Amino acid sequence: MITKSGWINANLLRDFEAEGTDAHRLCTIEDGWMERFGRDILISFKRVLARERLVNELEWWANSSKFKFERIFARFVAQKNEEREPPRLIFGDPSENLQTIACERHLKFGIDFGAGYSVGLFVDQRENRRYVRHISPKRLLNCFAYTCSFSVSAAYAGAVTLNVDLSKKALTRGRENFALNGLSTIDHHFIADDVMAVLRRLAHKGEKFDVIILDPPTFSRSPKGKTFQVENDFEKLLVDALELAERDSHILLSTNCFTLREHALEVMARYALKATRRAATFHRQPALPDFPPGAGASSIWLILR
Ligand SMILES: C[S@@+](CC[C@H](N)C(=O)[O-])C[C@H]1O[C@@H](n2cnc3c(N)ncnc32)[C@H](O)[C@@H]1O
Repeated sequence: MITKSGWINANLLRDFEAEGTDAHRLCTIEDGWMERFGRDILISFKRVLARERLVNELEWWANSSKFKFERIFARFVAQKNEEREPPRLIFGDPSENLQTIACERHLKFGIDFGAGYSVGLFVDQRENRRYVRHISPKRLLNCFAYTCSFSVSAAYAGAVTLNVDLSKKALTRGRENFALNGLSTIDHHFIADDVMAVLRRLAHKGEKFDVIILDPPTFSRSPKGKTFQVENDFEKLLVDALELAERDSHILLSTNCFTLREHALEVMARYALKATRRAATFHRQPALPDFPPGAGASSIWLILR
């Protein structure tokens, strides 16, 4: 599905269009990658040479694939999170607004190239969102909800959702994503607070969920100064989440941290299950056809018994 030069092939592009998806990777090379969001392109680069190569190859690839785009944005992938900046427009009309809408399996998601380093949708979670739709949960807890893309997928399948994120702005964009898809937010809750504190409160109230999403950032600091470091804190996060998990529920463990690959997630999950005396099987979604092996987030699903 990916050619030797790193570009997705014509069949895959056709498959995406046929299934109503226009948010996906286009190309992956050593020091960069390119994603499509509707008619806009986002280049992420670790070296300027990689950005230049991707821009040059895009013209050739777009011509040969009859692919039309309007703008190209580019962002530098700085090593430190605090040095990461919003993408810059490098091709296209600078007077147009910086927002657009992208589709994934006919669901719509707001994209904002001016909101920060992340534009609103993580395309590497596509298969996990598909699985949420397949499970068709009754009550989904979305921790680190960001723009609530998992919740929109669940709500579309009939779930009620509880969305927790430190960022009020992200949750506002989450509500907008519900509206974009004609989904009312009446039965959905949005809490702007620290996940760890909210999990404790929910456990105290005896709340239960049949799907829990745990896709934390590598590092974060809450306004009260509390830090979250995924390598150290994921296990405690899962132990707390297990208390809210019904029998036969599903929990997604996912991370972008390159030191925590699938095997490490599984080892960590086994410790947490033992500590809470719960039993589960592990499920993995199929590899993403637009990503080379090892690229993108690492994920496993726990299916509790
Ligand atoms: C990697 S993104 C989550 C992506 C999301 N799961 C998705 O697929 O769209 C990280 C999010 O976690 C939020 N966050 C970071 N630390 C947090 C904390 N301690 N409690 C709640 N939210 C937190 C950030 O505001 C950000 O929106």
